[in-house]
Amino acid sequence: MVQATPFLLLLFLALGAHGLAVKKCSLTGQWKNDLGSNMTIYEVNEDGDFSGKYLTAVSDSSSEIRESPLLGFQHPPDESQPTFGFTIRWNFTNTISVFTGQCFEEGNREVLKTMWLLRSRVENIKNDWKATRVGYNTFWRLE
Ligand SMILES: *[C@@H]1O[C@H](CO)[C@@H](O)[C@H](O)[C@H]1NC(C)=O
Ligand SMILES: *[C@@H]1O[C@H](CO)[C@@H](O)[C@H](O)[C@H]1NC(C)=O
Repeated sequence: MVQATPFLLLLFLALGAHGLAVKKCSLTGQWKNDLGSNMTIYEVNEDGDFSGKYLTAVSDSSSEIRESPLLGFQHPPDESQPTFGFTIRWNFTNTISVFTGQCFEEGNREVLKTMWLLRSRVENIKNDWKATRVGYNTFWRLE
């Protein structure tokens, strides 16, 4: 008993601390959004930067959809529920998207809540006013 008490206390601290810690919400992995688009994010490095690829389910372009590269930052790189931003260079059209968002722990699932801007290329400055769109997407980790 004399020995057991500190041992149990240590055990409790170890398990308790682990159980209370908010689960990490790293972006690394495969994600699917509400439109059916797929996104893969490779390893987030210690500075928070990452690359990945994006396969959109929707497009306004007449060209065939192709998987496209993305580059971004997760901030902070190693804490729960981080913010992030990334840019997608669409492979099949002269447009660029930027996403910004946050990863949330919702029950046992990780959810990315994002907003984006899509810049389309226009032929001249007179059409600049209509060149940018805005939207929302929610992503879930592919199990
Ligand atoms: C995303 O991945 C799922 C599962 O692999 C697949 O069924 C679906 O067709 C993909 N979506 C697109 C837009 O390719
Ligand atoms: C399109 O993007 C992918 C990354 O997902 C890359 O591997 C591929 O080479 C790109 N293709 C073109 C034509 O840029």
